[in-house]
Amino acid sequence: MSFLPVTASAPGKLMLFGEHAVVYGSPCIVTAVDRRIEATVAMNATETVVVEREGHSAQNLGSVQYVQTESIDCFDTKYQFVIMALKTFWEDTQSAFGVIITTRSQFTDKEGLGSSSAVTVALMKALSEATDQGYDLDTVFRLSYATVKAVQGEDASGFDVAAATYGGTFRYQKDKKNASLQRETANMSLIVAYSGIKAKTTEYVAKVKRFKKKEPDLVNNIMEDIEKLVNQAEQAFLRQDFETAGHLMNCNHDLLHSLGVSTDVLDCLIDTCKLNGAYGAKLSGAGGGDCIISLAHPKCKKNVEDGIYKIKRFKHIKVLPVQSGAEGVRIE
Ligand code: MEV
Repeated sequence: MSFLPVTASAPGKLMLFGEHAVVYGSPCIVTAVDRRIEATVAMNATETVVVEREGHSAQNLGSVQYVQTESIDCFDTKYQFVIMALKTFWEDTQSAFGVIITTRSQFTDKEGLGSSSAVTVALMKALSEATDQGYDLDTVFRLSYATVKAVQGEDASGFDVAAATYGGTFRYQKDKKNASLQRETANMSLIVAYSGIKAKTTEYVAKVKRFKKKEPDLVNNIMEDIEKLVNQAEQAFLRQDFETAGHLMNCNHDLLHSLGVSTDVLDCLIDTCKLNGAYGAKLSGAGGGDCIISLAHPKCKKNVEDGIYKIKRFKHIKVLPVQSGAEGVRIE
């Protein structure tokens, strides 16, 4: 066990294709982005658990025994993933210890870039390193996914946890990371824009679930069509055919729209990308807000971004300069 502080970092994510259908077992394509969250673990001889977000004052959560036995609802929501990750780690290692946990983030939890999964994965890795557990990536993924499900519910597909753990761009199916598309997508010209609205993932997953219950045939057909698009997009990426991938984004967005998860601001952003020469665009994530993504010819990227900045109707829109295919969790 190390009494020196140990820091690990993990990347955020963007869903390229296949959101919502992935919840029901279909594949999706996901990429890790170069905005990271760091978690530092320092053993605490006083047998208490202290958590701190950089820029905020530290909070003493109480004794190890208290943190171990209390339900997650007793803690501030902003620390729930941290506390649940710690509890999951204690359970897995049959241990419990005083610890000071500090987190630092290169992105806000408002943009939908996967801050909860990134902080969970970074902390799991830091805890493993600080206590000499030597977890491999599959173990970090398994325990982090269990943590996320314990906080968010069983519907969470885990694609964001996979992106934070393994990094890169890849096809993902519930509990299973498949083919890597890292090399094939290295040169893609991706534009990411934030809608200015924070979406609540669980709300939109529940909305689609209700719709599926009411109209099972219709929604199952939509999910099947999304799966076909994911397969076609994978082939397009393998050919480095970003023009076709962009057109497939338009089709994927139309299907998400028919699931009822798009909004005026997302549609406006997507139309703007297309009007300014992008190959295509779609919402990325659960819908209701967060980000859109767009593929364009590299020469056209600036034009698309300028077009987004000219939108006057919605105030808080901004282009997020992020790179896809970032490295997964690592010790800093
Ligand atoms: C949310 O970012 C993506 C969804 O597919 C939910 C999930 O995969 O857990 C809507």
